[in-house]
Amino acid sequence: MPFRISFRLVTLLLAPAILFASSPQGLRDSAQSAGVLVGAAVRPSLFSEAAYSETLAREFNMVEPEDAMKWWKVRLSQGTYDFGDGDEIVRFAQAHGMKIRGHCLVWDHHNPEWLAQGHFNPAQLSHLLQEHIATVMKHYAGQVFAWDVVNEALDEHGHLRDSLWYNQPGIGLSDKGTAYIGQAFRWAHEADPQALLFYNEAEGEGLNRKSDAIYAMVKDFKARGVPIDGVGLQMHVAQLDLDTAAIAANIARLTALGVQVHITEFDVSLPVDSSGQPRHDDLLRQAEVYRGVVHACLQSPGCAAIQTWGFTDKWSWIGSHSHGTRGAALPFDRAYKPKPAYDAMFEEMSAKANRPH
Ligand code: XIL
Repeated sequence: MPFRISFRLVTLLLAPAILFASSPQGLRDSAQSAGVLVGAAVRPSLFSEAAYSETLAREFNMVEPEDAMKWWKVRLSQGTYDFGDGDEIVRFAQAHGMKIRGHCLVWDHHNPEWLAQGHFNPAQLSHLLQEHIATVMKHYAGQVFAWDVVNEALDEHGHLRDSLWYNQPGIGLSDKGTAYIGQAFRWAHEADPQALLFYNEAEGEGLNRKSDAIYAMVKDFKARGVPIDGVGLQMHVAQLDLDTAAIAANIARLTALGVQVHITEFDVSLPVDSSGQPRHDDLLRQAEVYRGVVHACLQSPGCAAIQTWGFTDKWSWIGSHSHGTRGAALPFDRAYKPKPAYDAMFEEMSAKANRPH
């Protein structure tokens, strides 16, 4: 039976190729199959490090500047705009077929001295902010697909934080609650009508007073036609017993309002010893936190992106932020080796990709 033999032979020879084609090869591939973006915050000064660039391009399909598009980087003086670092990120992303999230246009932190200490009056601040939003967003129009328009405007009670843009002295809407946030979104929509506009916040991922306030604000904006498209959940996690069911519930209620959710700044910091090493057990528990958050996102069709804040423990803001007491927060270790957290993300995304829709 020559036909049967050769048919078997062909099947045998093809089997690895079929397997290869149908099972995801890495995070980027598994995310694409799961229908979600997987991103990392990046520093353009590190693109020259081969392992950094190779890992980033291989494993992620989205990038966000960790600092390069913030006021203090872009606006060294009132009269100048410096897009150098941001443009480098755009070039990298375009060369590797990656999407770009912009971060951020309105925040009370990381503003240049001339702005924060400039004693501008509300009319001047309003003009400065509108001009900044318009100039930056038009520069990146067609390149940056989504912007964190406003970052961290609420405190842990869900009240508006005192800030330069709100009430110190603010842009002229200081006694009108979230109106200054709505104004920023309207200016952003005018500047680039195609861009998706996000409100980005810390510690409002689960169910608490802050996330209740975000929910109420988004509901109100949607009802009044304020152009908001999404909520960014930062997800800087420091505890290993995270309530991921509450996160799933929060994502579900937000997406039910008709906005997207992006996980924007995910990391899970661990206690580290004096040489920066975490305990082995903690790495395994960390992986379960990663798994739970990815699972929570993938449960909601409106949760469209999962992004980590950096991707290698070699370059993470956690060490400097925690004065070296915590670290090891990201899916790759300092040698760019995937950690259990990476495997957990990969497995969750692959499982979603293989589930019937
Ligand atoms: C951090 C960067 O990672 C640091 O490099 C910088 O020194 C300070 O800002 N929430 C945010 C991010 O929205 O912009 C912050 O990024 C981390 C907390």
